[in-house]
Amino acid sequence: MSGLSRALCSNSMRPIFIVLSGLLVASSVSADPVVNGTVGESVVLLAVFSQQSDITGVEWSFGTDVIANEGNINGTKQFKDRVHLNRRDWSLTINLLRAEDSGEYKRVVETATGQLPTHAVTLQVYEKIESKVTRKPSNETCRATLHCTTNQREHVSYRWKRGDQDLPEHAGILEVSLNPGEINVIFTCVASNPVSEAAASIWESCAESPGGVSFCVLKSVLLSLGLVLMISAVIGVHVRDCMHTKRNVRRHRAACET
Ligand SMILES: *[C@@H]1O[C@H](CO)[C@@H](O)[C@H](O)[C@H]1NC(C)=O
Ligand SMILES: *[C@@H]1O[C@H](CO)[C@@H](O)[C@H](O)[C@H]1NC(C)=O
Repeated sequence: MSGLSRALCSNSMRPIFIVLSGLLVASSVSADPVVNGTVGESVVLLAVFSQQSDITGVEWSFGTDVIANEGNINGTKQFKDRVHLNRRDWSLTINLLRAEDSGEYKRVVETATGQLPTHAVTLQVYEKIESKVTRKPSNETCRATLHCTTNQREHVSYRWKRGDQDLPEHAGILEVSLNPGEINVIFTCVASNPVSEAAASIWESCAESPGGVSFCVLKSVLLSLGLVLMISAVIGVHVRDCMHTKRNVRRHRAACET
């Protein structure tokens, strides 16, 4: 690797490589791609070079640390037991990703005739997203505010659906308004970040009848009316029985006196 180190340090060689790489790869590969990874999962960083013969050295570094090479370096520091240099294409696999793996990775390839242009990849590691919907009732009937919350602070975007239909709103908050008689309408929030998305739903109902009296109130009124009638009937029967008994007693007494 001493040749590689020398090549890395020699600034005089750099302009030539830049010109060459500009000519060769301008339209085929982006110079500094961004790769998105998920915490706990794996990612493969491609080595991005076509020449596969005469390779005398390959190394991947993160910051100032060489984390893997074609020799005996295979996972240093935070990458211990988590990286694998694939011998077929010299890509680098990183397993069990952590948030702190985010950053720039550099791949250097040395061949018998010199060093290939350095390739840089930026890795962004995100948490898998989780979401839930909560509601805040409004003091106006058949309206509510829905809040979609996630386990992340940044890089979150939202979509909403009413039933199967997409809504135009793209905030974490949705004001909903239902028409009288709409029951069990499902509202869904789909929260996403660059690596995942999660849907959460809530059911909303508006039991109000078109006349302005809700079915619920109507039911209560009818039920109360029924109860009142029943109680009156019971009291009525009881009173009649009492009167009947009293009359009988009076009649009995009258019969005794005569
Ligand atoms: C609902 O409450 C807010 C304050 O909490 C008030 O400003 C608004 O007028 C109320 N709306 C109705 C229809 O009562
Ligand atoms: C990675 O995430 C960014 C947003 O941060 C996005 O623009 C880009 O398309 C994503 N790349 C891939 C390959 O999904």
